[in-house]
Amino acid sequence: MNLREYLAQQRRLVDAELDRLVPPEAAAPETIHRAMRYSLFAGGKRIRPILCIEAARAVADASDGVVAAACALELIHTYSLIHDDLPALDNDDYRRGKLTNHKVFGDAMAILAGDALLTLAFQVLAALDTTAERKTRLIAELAAASGTVGGMIGGQVADLEGEGKLPTAHLLETIHRAKTGALLRASLRLGAIYAGADDARYAALSCYGERVGLAFQIVDDILDVEESSAALGKTAGKDAQQHKITFPAVYGLEASRRMAEEECARAHQALEAFGPRAERLRELADLIVHRKS
Ligand code: IPE
Ligand code: IPE
Ligand code: MG
Ligand code: MG
Ligand code: MG
Repeated sequence: MNLREYLAQQRRLVDAELDRLVPPEAAAPETIHRAMRYSLFAGGKRIRPILCIEAARAVADASDGVVAAACALELIHTYSLIHDDLPALDNDDYRRGKLTNHKVFGDAMAILAGDALLTLAFQVLAALDTTAERKTRLIAELAAASGTVGGMIGGQVADLEGEGKLPTAHLLETIHRAKTGALLRASLRLGAIYAGADDARYAALSCYGERVGLAFQIVDDILDVEESSAALGKTAGKDAQQHKITFPAVYGLEASRRMAEEECARAHQALEAFGPRAERLRELADLIVHRKS
């Protein structure tokens, strides 16, 4: 199966599981379920859940249960996007090629939809069909990656407080590792934990996750400069407009591209011990760096 077919198949798998996990639109209170599903099924790339599933496959012949764990990552990610787009944060009108959640449902319902997706993510992990010890580790890892100390929320705070500040290399890396890198690394870790990875494999997948996590946000920054809003499904050129601390702002486009490639090469190195079992992860690292949206 080529990469394109594989990605389409994995996305169908993830979407079907998300559909099963999220209350139907007809369930009361209908508005919140419509708002949650609106953003969740707006056409995200599903990179995080796919990385989670592949990490598990690199470790062991994974059972189907890993898809639910993978969906917890997409629930957190979608919540972070809904809140990132709010007028009080990045103030964006478009996301995943559609109007942002608050543009359709209003600020209050968008805040609550984010809250609901966040809460559901942990409900999903708590209900997984695996040992209590693994569930505890999965919950702790996802919470830390989403949290304030080196996690997504901490990164979002630094990103907002960095607007208009002198963009230093140190601050830049701190922001990117936290706001995006932590959840990407957690995607690999959740797969590794679910599949029962030993310490060496867990560390290797964490290292790969850190590399692709940083590369992911470098490329997001580059695409914001180079691509059109239509291609991205979100408003292009926003970072410069909002004086964000980004890789292109600090290093320029060419050096940023080179740095993303370097992270990708290191991600490949981290997978050496896995041999052919990690072939899809290698392809996914390349995809993350060479994607156009
Ligand atoms: C966008 O993430 C926000 C960042 C963390 C850079 P994605 O590029 O994965 O967005 P979707 O899920 O495909 O919409
Ligand atoms: C968002 O970073 C990271 C999140 C935690 C949501 P950006 O603000 O760069 O993401 P986009 O460009 O709006 O998708
Ligand atoms: Mg932002
Ligand atoms: Mg944004
Ligand atoms: Mg961006």
